[in-house]
Amino acid sequence: MKSKYLHIQTIGCQMNVYDSERIIEGLAPLGYQVTDSPAQADVILLNTCAIREKAEQKAFSYLGRLAKLKEKKPSLIIGIGGCVAQQEGERIIRRVPHVDLVFGTHAIERLPDMIRRIARMRCRVIDVEMSETIRESVPGAPSHRSGPTARFVTIMRGCDNFCAYCVVPYVRGRETSRDPDAVVEEIKCLTAAGTREVTLLGQNVNSYGRKEGLCSFPRLLEKINAIEGLFRIRFTTSHPKDISDELIQAYKDLEKLCHHIHLPVQSGSDRVLKRMNRRYTRERYLEKIDSLRRACPDIAITSDFIVGFPGETEDDFQDTQDLIRRVRFDSVFAFKYSDRPNAPASGFSNKVAETEKADRLRRLFELQAEITMEKNEELVGAIETVLVEGESKKQTADDPDPSDRMQWTGRTSSNRIVNFSFEKDPPCFGDNLVGTLVDVDIKKALPHSLWGRPVEGSVRSTCMKGASSYAA
Ligand code: 5AD
Ligand code: SF4
Repeated sequence: MKSKYLHIQTIGCQMNVYDSERIIEGLAPLGYQVTDSPAQADVILLNTCAIREKAEQKAFSYLGRLAKLKEKKPSLIIGIGGCVAQQEGERIIRRVPHVDLVFGTHAIERLPDMIRRIARMRCRVIDVEMSETIRESVPGAPSHRSGPTARFVTIMRGCDNFCAYCVVPYVRGRETSRDPDAVVEEIKCLTAAGTREVTLLGQNVNSYGRKEGLCSFPRLLEKINAIEGLFRIRFTTSHPKDISDELIQAYKDLEKLCHHIHLPVQSGSDRVLKRMNRRYTRERYLEKIDSLRRACPDIAITSDFIVGFPGETEDDFQDTQDLIRRVRFDSVFAFKYSDRPNAPASGFSNKVAETEKADRLRRLFELQAEITMEKNEELVGAIETVLVEGESKKQTADDPDPSDRMQWTGRTSSNRIVNFSFEKDPPCFGDNLVGTLVDVDIKKALPHSLWGRPVEGSVRSTCMKGASSYAA
């Protein structure tokens, strides 16, 4: 079979990263290999995100740039998928003449058939149909997955929360959970192929299984915790209103559950939270944080914020800053509010000026940068267990190591990036440190990472305490 090449561009969230991986797996049996070069590709797919206006603009400008490639190579198939495709559907086909395929968020399983059809008949195809159930197209992951150390696994899709600013319920549909056995099977396959850490994905993982009467989210965590060979479990995203005592208890009981939670609060003002339809108050949020910290004192807490939501005043924004000071998040994501199609807030009055939004965003980042740095500095002198993910790409300016020495990178349980190198190369592992756990003595704090030296004899390829370890 002649080699055929697929180039895939992923914009947006982790959910899209997972979907792109499934697309690659689905097209492999048709003979498509992944290429980094759009010029070499026979198929170019763009997996898009519509959550904020900026991501959507990025998708359209990328699509525009592909026109020239199509002119040079008329057989090239260009497809756009994901949330923007779901939202815009036929309009894209009408607006962008060089697009052959528009596939929505529920159409990934049907993609190989569509590509085959387009290649054979040179037709244009739209599939933005949504279904209420998740078809498990592959019972477990295909065995050819030879995975990087840390992988994403979607456990549910869609959302029923209808936050006033959010497009997700309209482009990803209603909340639907995958069968727990299928999830466990998939993670077992990934683990057999070398994955050591999974991040479970869903818009609101705390309500996993509730609608379908499947097991609860903490029970799913328990099942995954029992998978041999897996070292670490993470999940995202949690809705503060749905954090249960059972989940908080899981941080005490499940040794593989990482000491980190991403708990988007969006605003520190009760008035804004109410208009956002978030269904919790700042006090309730702070209580949840207290309970989490009581159960797991070293838990890292990260969050999302929107600044300049319609009607947000300077006082509201100061409440947000106050909440940030009170919680002392480990790090945060923050965004300027943008109107999204169908989302009720796009019809709200009292829109905040762009300049004001930009100013609030800058102030928020400045405040958080100080806190993140202080928190990173608190870790200097601590020994942190790092799961090694690969070689570190760039050396930091403060790195005292010679530039020709191999640098490794990985994450702590709290999701901090740690770069490190051995003073001399590790005798047992050579360049095969990926997927091992290493205890690192933290020597330096940087704004977005930590740097340290491995503890002698601490490199291990098992998460069992006291089991075989190797001299570094
Ligand atoms: N404008 C700005 N930010 C948004 N987010 C979601 N919708 C919008 C919007 N319309 C942010 C929220 C969410 C994150 C994934 O994106 O903070 O948690
Ligand atoms: Fe959007 Fe709210 Fe659902 Fe998150 S919980 S995906 S912000 S509607």
